[in-house]
Amino acid sequence: MKVEAAIERLNRFEATVLPELAEFLRNLQNRDLAIKTKRNARDLVTVADLESEKRIVSFIRAAFPEDDVLAEEGGGDFGEALTWVIDPVDGTVNYAHGLPLYAISIGLAWQGKPIAGLVHMPALRTTYRAAIGSGATCDGVPIGVTDTLETSQSLVVTGFPYEREPIIDLLMTGVRSTLMNCRGIRRTGSAAIDLCWLAHGRFDAHYELNLAPWDTCAGELIVREAGGRVTDLNGREHELKHKSLLATNGRIHEDMLRILSVFRSE
Ligand code: IPD
Ligand code: CA
Ligand code: CA
Repeated sequence: MKVEAAIERLNRFEATVLPELAEFLRNLQNRDLAIKTKRNARDLVTVADLESEKRIVSFIRAAFPEDDVLAEEGGGDFGEALTWVIDPVDGTVNYAHGLPLYAISIGLAWQGKPIAGLVHMPALRTTYRAAIGSGATCDGVPIGVTDTLETSQSLVVTGFPYEREPIIDLLMTGVRSTLMNCRGIRRTGSAAIDLCWLAHGRFDAHYELNLAPWDTCAGELIVREAGGRVTDLNGREHELKHKSLLATNGRIHEDMLRILSVFRSE
């Protein structure tokens, strides 16, 4: 019942707000973005982030006033109702540097858990979607994770937190261990894209330390529905309150947990 309501909401969003919003973001890139910093000099917010979130939230308030909203720039929290978990631009640093790897990420959560999600990449004109029990799709076509069994044949993607000074050695140890055990490592600059491309069989694993619910809500459901597995870096099933994340094709999950054991914590 709730899943159907969530799917209906994403359908409405995709049919009404998304086309114009994507066009707006494509046109705005490379113009004056009025870049400001948030917690530190690397953590940016631009007029694109603010305007994208404003348009998404206005749509929700008008169309589904009973719903709750948790959005990166404006805050909010999980509520009793269906909660929209919104990253208005995931990959802001890429966006500010003119790169095409950025996404709008919208998850719908019920009782704190993702039940439907949509990730749209405006520059790539691509939409990933999933809902519990319905599988994952790219532009409407079903997708699935890789069947890679060996970490030596796996391509791993990661991201680095903006506040990296206190953990720089730890981060480098994780990169070193990945480089020594896997085929390669990539960094797209958007956790939502990392998760979608893992779901689509382009990457075999994605790990990261300091993620927020809006980075992962849609993407982690897309991975699970594509047949993958998502835990934190301690190996516990990933919940939106967990900051660390390991997503894989499932087959190499235990091996990746061992390779990334430097990140284990009590
Ligand atoms: C960031 C991106 C990046 C990840 C950072 C996130 P933002 O989100 O997803 O890939 O490494 O941890 O904060 O700031 O571009 O929305
Ligand atoms: Ca983000
Ligand atoms: Ca963002």
